[in-house]
Amino acid sequence: MTEFERRHVGFNKPYLTGKETEYILESVKSRKISGDGVFTKKCHDFFEKRFGFNKVLLTTSCTDALEMAAILINTSQGDEIIAPAYTFVSSVNAFVLRGAKIVFCDSEEKSPNIDAKKIEELITPNTKAIVVVHYAGMAVDMDTIMELAQKHNIYVIEDAAHSIDSYYKGRPLGSIGHLAAFSFHETKNVISGEGGNACNQ
Ligand SMILES: Cc1ncc(COP(=O)(O)O)c(C=O)c1O
Repeated sequence: MTEFERRHVGFNKPYLTGKETEYILESVKSRKISGDGVFTKKCHDFFEKRFGFNKVLLTTSCTDALEMAAILINTSQGDEIIAPAYTFVSSVNAFVLRGAKIVFCDSEEKSPNIDAKKIEELITPNTKAIVVVHYAGMAVDMDTIMELAQKHNIYVIEDAAHSIDSYYKGRPLGSIGHLAAFSFHETKNVISGEGGNACNQ
């Protein structure tokens, strides 16, 4: 046990496979260490092939991937974004920073996920997007949400920070909405210290 471990009650224990230092060394030796190197390409390929995403881009965090999502849907002053009342601040921060109003929707009775049945009453002509969070990898009711999105012509962004290799009716989470963001922060299931990616369908 290290001195740090003796003195702290850990919030989480990062999952390591044992090959990390070998790969870090390989990356350093390649002299391409700021991104867009061989491991970036491997990650893009893995996500696109394994989960069938149309396009994947590695980012420095899930927070940054959500920034990209907010920019891509052209979030502007006066837009309303429907989001779950229970989530991490990054789910909505990027939209707040661009002047959007966050309209929080209550959770399901038995989970922290957004209650899809309560969304439609919150939709107005200003609603631009619904952000869903599959909390701890538990899938949100995506059929109901995608139907609403189509009916009202609004975007669905999946904050899939917790949801690598999690599924809804056999479909990978992150592959159902218009855009998705994943996290590789050390508290998540697949980690890189800090990191994330953005996907579109
Ligand atoms: C639901 C949710 N979204 C987004 C994030 C942000 O992830 P990152 O630390 O990779 O920016 C987190 C981090 O815990 C999260 O729990």
